[in-house]
Amino acid sequence: MDTVLVTGGAGFIGIHTVIALLEKKYRILIIDSLINSSKKSIERLISKNLLKKESINSQIIFINGDIRDVNFLRSVFKKASKSGHIIKYVLHFAGLKSISDSILFPDEYWEVNVIGTKRLLKVMKENNCHNFVFSSSATVYSLDEKSPLKENSSLSPNNQYGYTKLAVEKFLEGLVHDQERFWRIVCLRYFNPIGAHPSGDFGESPLNTPNNLFPYLCQVASKKRKKLYIFGQNWPTSDGTCIRDYIHIMDLAEGHIAAIDYIKSGAKEPFLIINLGTGLGTSVLELVKTFENVNNLRIDYEFIERREKDKAIVYADPNFAKRILNWEAKRNIFDMCKDGWNWQKKNPDGY
Ligand code: NAD
Ligand code: UD1
Repeated sequence: MDTVLVTGGAGFIGIHTVIALLEKKYRILIIDSLINSSKKSIERLISKNLLKKESINSQIIFINGDIRDVNFLRSVFKKASKSGHIIKYVLHFAGLKSISDSILFPDEYWEVNVIGTKRLLKVMKENNCHNFVFSSSATVYSLDEKSPLKENSSLSPNNQYGYTKLAVEKFLEGLVHDQERFWRIVCLRYFNPIGAHPSGDFGESPLNTPNNLFPYLCQVASKKRKKLYIFGQNWPTSDGTCIRDYIHIMDLAEGHIAAIDYIKSGAKEPFLIINLGTGLGTSVLELVKTFENVNNLRIDYEFIERREKDKAIVYADPNFAKRILNWEAKRNIFDMCKDGWNWQKKNPDGY
């Protein structure tokens, strides 16, 4: 049983990926500072024991700590090797992700997202662990680029958050370039992950007012918020609202398993950047209507002004992922709306 270190594993994408890793029989070490999540996600995962594994208590270990703390990271690797479970792969989700906060607190975003990642890589190297999967974002693409976005489309983030993601990608590329003998690195550029685990026991659990469309929509559906405000109705799209590439969280999680498999099978390319999206665009209104129809409810909404620096149409070209990772999204927008609402209904206040 190989051991995977999952940073930020208590968060939205992390916990769903841990579920996918469990299914593939990995041993999982989670580290998280819990700054944007709760330990309850992990406790629930262990207590629910979805896969009915007797070994669940030893298969997942959680350690609370910060990726900026080198001594903490060293202790994690030491503990793992002392127990005979050397860390073989690192899935790096830990990071700060609010665009608006990144503009208000750029120092903190660079500290956590860039310096924190560099410290993690340093401790990995000290421990002879060189297999790394990084959570990047479609936000690195230029606003001027036309969709479908390919991995070699031009890059130009328009906020500090995006710059931190691009900076890490570049650092990783340089690392592999200089030390190709060692590193095997996959950067995954996520499009718009939404939905929840089909059990309804795991999902997105925002601690503050959600910035993104889907968690906000779910909270309107559960009457936590009065109405949805749609940013603009005169975009150059068929119904006037923006189009995005929404991807089911479990498809995204499985994309990480495919990335590990790629590294495991010898990683022909030591450094890769890969889009994780469906290749399909859905407008805000289409998403709202689908959510209403699938779940048999009504969403109150109002059009307001466009959001600053928004873009009319963003969707991925997912062909590279299909070719290289042999991965493609299997779930559709109906599944995303059904599973997302199931989670919200069962857990109106999160975990
Ligand atoms: P999340 O906030 O739910 O999860 C991130 C986790 O990292 C949280 O549990 C948080 O407590 C932890 N964390 C933050 N700073 C830390 C630190 N210094 N040390 C240790 N742990 C720390 O976010 P998510 O949606 O699960 O995103 C995971 C990753 O994917 C992030 O790096 C994010 O930038 C990236 N990403 C997310 C999206 C998205 O739409 N959710 C899109 C593109 C990229
Ligand atoms: C946002 C981030 C992007 C990140 C992506 C996935 C911004 C500017 N960009 O992009 O960096 O990679 O999430 O996490 O935040 N909308 C509304 N009302 C709302 C919220 C959103 O109408 O209350 C609209 C937006 O105008 C957009 C669509 O819904 O057209 C999706 O918005 P959102 O969920 O924030 O995702 P992105 O805009 O793709």
